[in-house]
Amino acid sequence: MTYQAIKQYLELLNVSGIDCIYRATVGSADELNRLRAQYSECTNCGLSHDRYRMVYGEGNPKARAMIIGEGPGRQEDLTGRPFVGDAGQLLDRMLNAINLTRQDVYIANIVKCRPPNNRNPAIEERLACLPYLIEQINIIQPRIFLLLGLVAAQTLLQTDLPLGKLRLMEHTFMDRPAFVTYHPAALLRNPDNKKPAWEDLQRFRDKYFSLADLS
Ligand code: URA
Repeated sequence: MTYQAIKQYLELLNVSGIDCIYRATVGSADELNRLRAQYSECTNCGLSHDRYRMVYGEGNPKARAMIIGEGPGRQEDLTGRPFVGDAGQLLDRMLNAINLTRQDVYIANIVKCRPPNNRNPAIEERLACLPYLIEQINIIQPRIFLLLGLVAAQTLLQTDLPLGKLRLMEHTFMDRPAFVTYHPAALLRNPDNKKPAWEDLQRFRDKYFSLADLS
């Protein structure tokens, strides 16, 4: 499958009306909890075979910012919570550095089940999981996105461009501004990128705090 296929798929979801089905339950923690339980035994793709727990996502159901990573790792699979391993601890520090906490944001991933050996999720696996993410976005109605790493950025922005280019561009996803930066796991492997990541975070922070209802 190509990114053209993802684009068509997203358009199809949009034409099918998915964009508005959940407007009645905007910001509802109950609705998110209900869907988490409903999908916990999902078998829509092969990732379900090796999964211990689905990692649905967590955070503020009325968050202004949604942070989107790639997919659960080992700790996340064991706990059912996103970004709780080493990369998650770095993410916490990144958020704190821009005066945010997990309670301010909502954190989710492109795929909700752990890819074996932490490989990149296949395009088919991403497509199988996308409706769940779009449904979450429609409930949370964030004002801004922060996309962590190449898988999140390329999947949602429907592009093959490298991260080095994407992080410097202005993007829109589902009519909201979307910022791209390095995945925290990549920063742990390559600390030289922490400086450019900090520049990305500062741009994201400035936009976040300039949102009308937060200034
Ligand atoms: N990496 C991700 O992309 N997501 C997680 O939840 C954990 C690690």
